[in-house]
Amino acid sequence: MSKQIRTGHIGILTSGGDTPGLNAAIRGIGKTASRGCSMQVIGFRDGFRGLMENRSVRLDNNMLSGILTLGGTILGTSRDKPHKMPMGGKIVDMTDVIVENYHKNHLDVLVCLGGGGTLKNAYRLSKAGCNIITLPKTIDNDIVGTDVTFGFDTAMGIAVDAIDRLHSTASSHHRIIIVEIMGHRVGWLALGAGMAGGADAILIPEIPYTIDKLAESILERVSRGKRFSIVAVAEGAITREGATKIKAVEKKMEKAEGEEREKLKKELDNLDNKYRGSTMEMAEELQLITGLETRVTILGHLQRGGTPSALDRMLATRLGTSAIEYIREEQYGIMVAVDGERTKAVPLEEVVGKVNYVPPDHPWVMAARSLDTSFGD
Ligand code: F6P
Repeated sequence: MSKQIRTGHIGILTSGGDTPGLNAAIRGIGKTASRGCSMQVIGFRDGFRGLMENRSVRLDNNMLSGILTLGGTILGTSRDKPHKMPMGGKIVDMTDVIVENYHKNHLDVLVCLGGGGTLKNAYRLSKAGCNIITLPKTIDNDIVGTDVTFGFDTAMGIAVDAIDRLHSTASSHHRIIIVEIMGHRVGWLALGAGMAGGADAILIPEIPYTIDKLAESILERVSRGKRFSIVAVAEGAITREGATKIKAVEKKMEKAEGEEREKLKKELDNLDNKYRGSTMEMAEELQLITGLETRVTILGHLQRGGTPSALDRMLATRLGTSAIEYIREEQYGIMVAVDGERTKAVPLEEVVGKVNYVPPDHPWVMAARSLDTSFGD
């Protein structure tokens, strides 16, 4: 039988970009903790910064009521890292202060709700002696070890709705409309939304494109009497030329250390800036090659806003309530992951620093290809 903690203190923080479903997860943790045992739940404001500054709020039933359907996070968030905290114009390692506040608040565990960056920071705190549990949240769906992350479904739904609306105006004006979709360095959102929205071309980072192949696929549509096209492009999409250059630097980085590694890191950043997220330039080129009027819609933070979908509310609630089970069993240093209809505990060291890329032969890609969707490759 699992060990039951009857008393104790659970800390919660939300860190990184906000995501629909965060409040559902906070509610799931908080309400389960207060049922049948007397664990107190403390929320820290604005991610790791709030823990460092000891800004907290008691998450009692009153605070947790009516938040299931709310977007954003009632706790606030930030991208601040414990070991690289901006402090009065300087970047300072505040890990010790954070660990001190963890103990001052008599925490038995700190539950960190976040994506890849949060995982790294949470893992550092775990190594510094804190009991840590993380929940996988991000619209990007780029975390390994879990079937899916919460926030992804809502963001995909918003992007699909946008593509649906863009279809009618693209058709009326006989235009190419390019819709840029978030997702950081992975293509799950653009791929899912592009497929569900019936985009004619989908460009994702995992399948580098050439503008000529993309233009060719659009002109082929024109030859079939289709006078408009919708292109769903991931913000991290990259040309074949860019991808080749980036791969070469990444290869050098595998062996590099110290100063040389830092130099290569900068080179990589420059290449990323040059070759990714260049949707406006791509549109100009496409218009020039095809002779078709081209417009761009960048969805940006719209995809993170508003109320979570039913699926994300369910997912976040399941993960939040399961977290309490692991806390009762004193299983720490883990991410609570989605595993079909169940959840599982995955050790942080197995997921930290890894990225869940779209496999280029993923069934979603193959299905889209069967429908003649172009990937620009
Ligand atoms: O990770 C979530 C995400 O929305 C990415 O898709 C996007 O690249 C990034 O965050 C945007 O970050 P910010 O909100 O800091 O501009």
